[in-house]
Formats: sequence, structure tokens, C-alpha cells
Amino acid sequence: MTGRLNVVVGVSGGIAAYKAVAVIRALVLAGHDVHVVATEAALRFVGKPTLEAISRNPVHTDLYEGVAQVRHVAIGQAADLIVVAPATAHSIAKIAAGLADDLLGNTILASSAPLVLAPAMHTEMWQNPATVANIATLRARGVTIVGPAIGQLTGSDTGAGRMVDPDDVVSAALAALTVQDLAGRRVLVTAGGTREALDPVRFIGNRSSGRQGVALAVAAASRGAEVTLLAANLEVPVPTGITRIDVVSAGDLASAAALEVNRADIVIMAAAVADYRPAVIAEAKIKKESAGERLTLELVRNPDILSSLSASKRADQIVVGFAAETEPDDAALLEAGRGKVARKGCDYLVLNRVGWAEGFSVPDNDVVMLDLAGDIVMRASGSKASVAHRILDRLA
Ligand code: PMT
Repeated sequence: MTGRLNVVVGVSGGIAAYKAVAVIRALVLAGHDVHVVATEAALRFVGKPTLEAISRNPVHTDLYEGVAQVRHVAIGQAADLIVVAPATAHSIAKIAAGLADDLLGNTILASSAPLVLAPAMHTEMWQNPATVANIATLRARGVTIVGPAIGQLTGSDTGAGRMVDPDDVVSAALAALTVQDLAGRRVLVTAGGTREALDPVRFIGNRSSGRQGVALAVAAASRGAEVTLLAANLEVPVPTGITRIDVVSAGDLASAAALEVNRADIVIMAAAVADYRPAVIAEAKIKKESAGERLTLELVRNPDILSSLSASKRADQIVVGFAAETEPDDAALLEAGRGKVARKGCDYLVLNRVGWAEGFSVPDNDVVMLDLAGDIVMRASGSKASVAHRILDRLA
């Protein structure tokens, strides 16, 4: 499932309602259109202006407002996904019973979209047979229940009942919607920027944060793939469920890729790999007292990992490279990409423009995907997560 989704976030009235703000923000930043339906009780915990500012849409609560637009069913009918976070014991009971005495209940009943609930309550309430039965009923109907986590509750007590972290709510919610079109496939992704040591304290590196590569790994895992990530000096976290192998230099990455490649059905090389490394790594810190006013470094070429993986790939493997180019002009950018895919021999090449404020590190990307013949097979722009899904759509 890809693209901009219409997501309804239901907020019910518990102290964890403040965490709904982070859930909404993550969905908005991922490029989705978010509509908040808050219960009256939720608005005692978190203010409507906050929810409106973060969701960038009006927040609805009242069943008897917007009657002319048939709002009590329209919001649910238009939804691609409904997430209730937090879902209190009371709201879970109402949803399980199919009650429609407020806008959230009506919205859920009027929708055929996947429903994801993030319970939050005290341990006793979570373990109460009434809640246990309600959760079992909802699970049997295909509702996704994410959490609750075990940890510190509102007071000084701890136990099961804490709402899971907002990012985990969002991942579970998007996964509930995602077709498992990579189930049974093994995907090897490289991410981040390699570092080539100059001496024990310095390196030559680049500004890759790993965001695009990690987004590809997360997207592949959410579509059912078994994912191994070769992680070069990442600035972003890697969620559980992905096998992470840390590497530092291009040489490390080449060795790790050689070990892992045979198991992979799809290889995606999103890491920014150094083309050159220092000819000599100094044993001790290079000192200006001995180097003087000018320091000349001799660099030697690194092996091209993508080219060698492409040359030795099995017929049933797909190898995807990335190309980071600085050409300001679109035609020249495309020309550079076409030259690169022909030279490297990969099945596909994802071309992105990079610069001081583009490509590297930023949350969004703008890509053109070329096949080996240099033909454009896909264009995508938006969050790195949505770009990742568009790339995988093509591969799946
Ligand atoms: O990590 P982010 O901050 O999110 O930024 C994402 C990104 C801009 C780094 C990413 O989208 C990207 O473009 N990655 C590839 C960067 C790169 O090394 O491009 P290149 O044009 O120099 O290399 C082309 C391809 O050859 C790449 O797939 C690269 O992994 C591979 N390569 C390069 C050199 C080398 N010695 N061996 C290689 O395998």
C-alpha cells in the first residue's frame, strides 16, 4: 500500500492522549492526510488547537455538527485506515459492542477500513475479564491490537497497560494496511555513509544519514520480506525485526555484502559508498607539527561493490543501485543516471539529485527509477518512506 492515505486518528479519553499528538505528527510527516476524531473525554486531556495544528485539519467531536455533510458516516467512509490511540477500556468496550453514541463510534461503524487500536489503561483494567473478552472479540474480527506495553503507568505503579511508543503505533498501523507482497523474499539493503580512516581519529566520509536505506528496509519488512541491513554509520534508528550488520568502511561493506548476497532475492544499494580511500592509514594521529602548512593525501580507488554484485548476480536476483548526482539540470541528471546504470550493470538504478540541502539527510526525496536500458520506469517524490514503497511496488 503506498501513496498518501486518508487516516482517521480516534483519540479517546485517557492520560495517554498526549501521546496521540506524536502519532498524528508521525503520520502527517509520513505524507498522510490525517483527520482526528476526538471524544469529549479526550479533549479534557489534550487541547483541540494542538490536535488541529498537528493534524493540519479540523478536529471533530460532536455527532450533531456537520449534519448536512452526513459527517457521522462520511469520515469513516472516506478513511483508508482508522487508528484509535489511545484506546481506553471504555472505548474498547464500546467498539466491541458496536455502540454509536458518539462521532468516533459512528465513524468506526461506518468504515470498512482496517482498524488499529493502541490500548492504554491500568493493568487491572487490561486484565479484567470484560476487557479480555472485548479484545478477543475485536481480534476475531480482524482488528489489529498494538500493545499495550509493560512499564510505568500514570502513577507510581508499573505493569501492562502503557500505550506503546507512537512510532510503533504508526508502524503497526501502516503494516496492517500493507499487502504482504514480499512475503518469503529475502531483501538485502545497504544504508548510510561509509567512512575511510585517515588515522585513528579521523576519516573521510559523506553526509548520508541512512534515512533512505532504513526506509527501504522498514518498507520491505512491512511487506513481509526477511530483511538484512548493512548499516554504515547510521544517524537513524533501525526498528526490531530487521537483521542489522554494522559496517564502517567501503571495504567492510564489500566483505559483508559478499557474505550476504547469495541469500538475497533482492539487493538494494542505498548506501553512499566512498569511491576512494587513503592509500595509507597513519598508525598515529597526523600532527600539524610534522605535516606543516600543507597536507597532501594520496587516495586509491575502492572496488565498486554494485558493479561486481551486478556482474555476478544469479538470474533470479534483482540488484538495484542508487545514483547520487549533483547536476542541476534535469536532462543532464537523467543523462548521468543512464550512463551510470549502463556502467554498473544493475537491473534498476534509483536516481536522486543531491546537494547541500537535497537527497542527503533530509526527510524527503525525489527520485527517478531507470531500468538497465535507461528507460524511466517510475518517478516518486515525498517522504523517504513513501519513496521506498514506490520502489518496492516496482520490484514486487
Ligand atoms: O542516507 P540519506 O541521508 O537518506 O541519503 C540518501 C542517499 C542520497 C545517500 C541515497 O538516496 C543515495 O543516493 N545513495 C547512493 C549514494 C552513492 O553512493 O551514489 P553513487 O552515485 O556514488 O554510487 C552509485 C551506486 O554505486 C550506489 O548504489 C552505491 O551504493 C554504489 N557504489 C558506489 C561506490 C562503490 N565503491 N561501490 C558501490 O557499490
